[in-house]
Amino acid sequence: MTLPAQRHGTGTDPGPGPGPGPGGELAEPGFWQLPPEHRLAAFARLRALGAPVFVPEGAGRGHWALVRHSQVQEASRLPKVFASAPGVTTPEPARWVRALFGDSMVNLDGPDHAQLRKIVQRAFTPRLLAAAEEDVHAVAARIVDDVLEERPDEFVSAVASRLPLEVICNMMGIPERYRAEIADRVNHASEHIGVERGLAARLRMPGRGLRALARMQRMVAGIGRERRKNPTDDLISALVRANVDGQALGARQLGAFFSLLMVAGVETTRNAITHGLTLLTDHPAQRDLLLSDFEAYGDGAVDEMIRHSTPIIQFRRTVVAEHTMDGHLFRPGDKVVLYYASANRDEGVFTDPDAFDITRSPNPHLGFGGGGPHFCLGAHLARVEMRALFRELLTRPVGLRAVGLPDLAGSNFDNRVRSLRFAFERP
Ligand code: HEM
Repeated sequence: MTLPAQRHGTGTDPGPGPGPGPGGELAEPGFWQLPPEHRLAAFARLRALGAPVFVPEGAGRGHWALVRHSQVQEASRLPKVFASAPGVTTPEPARWVRALFGDSMVNLDGPDHAQLRKIVQRAFTPRLLAAAEEDVHAVAARIVDDVLEERPDEFVSAVASRLPLEVICNMMGIPERYRAEIADRVNHASEHIGVERGLAARLRMPGRGLRALARMQRMVAGIGRERRKNPTDDLISALVRANVDGQALGARQLGAFFSLLMVAGVETTRNAITHGLTLLTDHPAQRDLLLSDFEAYGDGAVDEMIRHSTPIIQFRRTVVAEHTMDGHLFRPGDKVVLYYASANRDEGVFTDPDAFDITRSPNPHLGFGGGGPHFCLGAHLARVEMRALFRELLTRPVGLRAVGLPDLAGSNFDNRVRSLRFAFERP
């Protein structure tokens, strides 16, 4: 459907003036605390409107919500219109967050982004990735051994967060003595990212979390300096020695990249794994199907877990050139939010989008992004981790299942699970 181009405040768009308009509820912290089915119903109503919807954030500010699959994909693939600078979170980061994460590749565009990404990609050599895959299987088996022996009852801490953290720390070559502190700090720092005080607030992180991240970055920078002198076969050595047009990562960039990996690679995967266990528990027929032939259904199950749970709910972009989308004219300076959680339930793309169906094929979900230059760098690794862990968890004959509902953090940024109880059907 082609609609006539509109400007702010005209036609069916509510514009940034007073009154909440149809997108107003997305700005309410309470909205993100609602049960998932209520939020998904709201997104379905917004998708039905067709054109992007304005979400007022107070004080004359606000963003345009992209809720359709086609809209999210279009914005992801047009970086010359929808830029990642100055940042991709909503609310916007405070100055200190920018100071810490400013060099992070998620917030960069054009040649600056391409160069950083090339250095990092070059460091993810097939040899390093093959070694990582072997390690993933070993770590997954060890975690499940521990769980069967110790019989803990909280899944996030005992299982879901352990695997991605250990895998990334092993890849990077982080000495054992730093790891408990890193796990604690990352957990603490990311707990409060999001909307607790509404979109008018700045993205915040408690002072302790900030100091912890700064300390973590200094620590990684120190390891980087050491590895430059005495390289080993880990990722930090590769990153500080990678040679792309004579470039490698500087100490500050290395620290920023490590922080990014901790949030982008650990948080996301742990939440995907936790939602995965809930989904398999709630859908026993799908679980039986998966168990009947893990080789055949494993990959489909992992992607369907990611589509259904959408661990990263949204990323922001800033418009830098005029562009019309679904009849709406974007102008430079407009903020746009790509709601992956809504795109992944788009009834125009997915048949019966709320169903959990591990045989869904094709499954063009946007859980790792909508394509384009920022597409998730760790998508392959995340899939390998999830597949390995669920194989270990499901094929041991103990009947592991979730108990009760996950305790959701209610963030507008990641579909974070604080905790999930679990139990075994058989001894
Ligand atoms: C289920 C797990 C994961 C999900 C759902 C996920 C999701 C995403 C999404 C939505 C983006 C933004 C894409 C865009 O802007 O177009 C992204 C970017 C990124 N992800 Fe992931 N991710 C996951 C796991 C990982 C892992 C395991 C790693 C690293 C080991 C990782 C590293 C990154 C990095 C570095 C970026 C930024 C890339 C850039 O800006 O060029 N992610 N991810």
